[in-house]
Amino acid sequence: MKLWGGRFSKEMSGDTLAFTRSLDFDLKLWPYDLAVTRVHAAALNLCGLLSDEELRSVQEALEAMESELEEGIFPFRPDDEDIHTAVERELVERIGEAGARLRAARSRNDQVAADMRLYVKKESAAVARLLLALCEALLEKAEAHLGVIMPGFTHLQPAQPILLSHHLHAYLEMLRRDLERLREAKRRADVCPLGSGALAGVTFPLDRRLMAEELGFAAISANSVDAVSDRDFLADFLYALCMASVHMSRLCEELVLWSSPLFGLLELDDAYATGSSLMPQKKNPDIAELMRGRAARAIGTLQQLLALLKGLPLAYNRDLQEDKEATFSLVEGLKRGIRALTGMIVTMGLDSARMRELASRGYLTATDLADYLVRKGVPFLRAHEVAGKAVSMCVGRGVELSELPLEDLTSLHPAIGDDIYDHIRAEASVEMRDLPGGTATRQVREALRRAREWLEEEMEYWRE
Ligand code: ARG
Repeated sequence: MKLWGGRFSKEMSGDTLAFTRSLDFDLKLWPYDLAVTRVHAAALNLCGLLSDEELRSVQEALEAMESELEEGIFPFRPDDEDIHTAVERELVERIGEAGARLRAARSRNDQVAADMRLYVKKESAAVARLLLALCEALLEKAEAHLGVIMPGFTHLQPAQPILLSHHLHAYLEMLRRDLERLREAKRRADVCPLGSGALAGVTFPLDRRLMAEELGFAAISANSVDAVSDRDFLADFLYALCMASVHMSRLCEELVLWSSPLFGLLELDDAYATGSSLMPQKKNPDIAELMRGRAARAIGTLQQLLALLKGLPLAYNRDLQEDKEATFSLVEGLKRGIRALTGMIVTMGLDSARMRELASRGYLTATDLADYLVRKGVPFLRAHEVAGKAVSMCVGRGVELSELPLEDLTSLHPAIGDDIYDHIRAEASVEMRDLPGGTATRQVREALRRAREWLEEEMEYWRE
């Protein structure tokens, strides 16, 4: 059965159907499509377009279909174009005229927009919950390792000593922003387009607010033309996913680097690593690599949607069907990925001793030597020069700054006294950065306390 056909004198060609059919992927929308159909039937009933008895038969049929869809035994036909058609065809076949009445006052255009909005609301919450578990894993690591010093990097060159917990907290900040974006994406999807019809609205007095309320939408759309052609909410959702993927990809890049024996900063748990079919000694961070790859997919998916939208005249165009396949595949893949990444982080072992050891190599406290001189009244520019000379001295002798004898340091600048050694230890370097947002233990402890507070509130917000 088709939802149209009266004006056509020929059957649709096989090629047309094969190309235009979306059932393979929009099948995913069935829970939303049933909900929307249920609410539509109730609204028709209120308008007097569907009798109480007919409404009951629609509801019963939808219930039966729901369990069949759940069990995967719904009798789809090869010529069902999409999920909307399939549901309606079955309704007509099962209950006859009552089913045939449902097409009144709706179009697949407002229907699919409603389905997609419900989908985004549901999935933004699902992704948010998984990201929160990832946050919990990172926060636990940060809390458990408070006090561990590691080299901080710029340009991937050892730069200044920082607390490992400070480094991990940086990712918590990124993810905190991602969760804000997901809240926003969910809020933007929370508008009900039903009642917009094909584009102009409908001629029956559907109670739009009631329909919205029954579906759990916060508001109704203000313009029927916009409502059927708008996919901004999906772009917002994809951008939120993109940004989170980019953050996770950066984290994964570090997991890859740090787990390399050349860095030797962490050891992956066997359950979250993979081997090589050829090289027996290998333990590979495939999860992290695939998450980096998945970020590319996220970026591609957003780009695809924006490209899809940019040339569309109002209102609905079939191009919009192309918003689904990549989105669904991205969301499923990301959810699996976030779960695996979280497990990888929970189980990995961090080598605190090696981190501390690396933090005392490579003259990471040269800035602190300069700052020491600034405290003694030397302008930073001059102090920087002195510290640079000290480093050059170290390079020549193959020693660290703290190993230079006092005479040599004093020869570089007379203001240097023997208290210098207290200033150029990694611990001192870290603790001196005692301002909000800095890496001193006191500050990081406070930052983690706030992160914990935030996490609990956020978990409450996204609770099912
Ligand atoms: N499968 C379509 C989509 O995903 C449903 C809407 C079709 N509307 C239409 N007028 N052909 O966009």
